[in-house]
Amino acid sequence: MSTGRARVVDRTGTGVHIRWMIRRDMPEVTRAERACFEFSWTEDDFLRCLRQRNCIGMVAEVNDALAGFMIYELHKTRLNVLNFAVAPGARRRGVGRVMVGKLVYKLTSHRRQKITLAVRERNLPAQLFFRAHGFRATRLLPSYYEDSREDAYQMELLAPPYDPFDGFGVIGPVNRVAQYEER
Ligand SMILES: CC(C)(COP(=O)(O)OP(=O)(O)OC[C@H]1O[C@@H](n2cnc3c(N)ncnc32)[C@H](O)[C@@H]1OP(=O)(O)O)[C@@H](O)C(=O)NCCC(=O)NCCS
Repeated sequence: MSTGRARVVDRTGTGVHIRWMIRRDMPEVTRAERACFEFSWTEDDFLRCLRQRNCIGMVAEVNDALAGFMIYELHKTRLNVLNFAVAPGARRRGVGRVMVGKLVYKLTSHRRQKITLAVRERNLPAQLFFRAHGFRATRLLPSYYEDSREDAYQMELLAPPYDPFDGFGVIGPVNRVAQYEER
């Protein structure tokens, strides 16, 4: 029997499913946003941002419940993350890791070569999280936030080597024939 919902396929094997953000997600997204940030975006902030042609919103679900979300902009040579959060009750279970994986997957071998974002100077957990995923702080952005005048670190992740058969994530050349023969 059809439930009327699209069947969800979890290709990561983590139980985390990433999909486009839709208007109906807004109440849950703004609730999670308020739980995550001292200076939180309003629903209007989200909608204004998502109206831009190059701006994309995605949500992460675990067991059909919202576990996280991210908003990013597509630029010619980079992907810039504007908002990224995992709900407090869903943290340290790899949800953020799957979300970063999705962003890396969006990079293409020739054009978009890096992911950039700004992290508040006081937000050490987020700095450690992004560093654990290969991001590096590249610049200090003085008084970056209008709300608190806090400084930010710009963090960047350069695209890992690209394998046309496997996608991203291959470090160094792999001899496929040798692998096949060894089995
Ligand atoms: C930062 C955040 C997105 C991490 O999400 P998460 O789903 O809990 O992260 P994961 O479970 O995928 O963590 C993967 C790894 O990142 C690192 N990490 C994650 N949270 C961390 C923390 N609080 N302190 C130190 N390292 C951390 C660890 O290495 C972790 O691996 P481990 O759990 O095996 O030790 C989440 O804490 C969050 O939403 N924070 C509030 C919002 C925010 O600051 N967003 C970023 C704005 S720039």
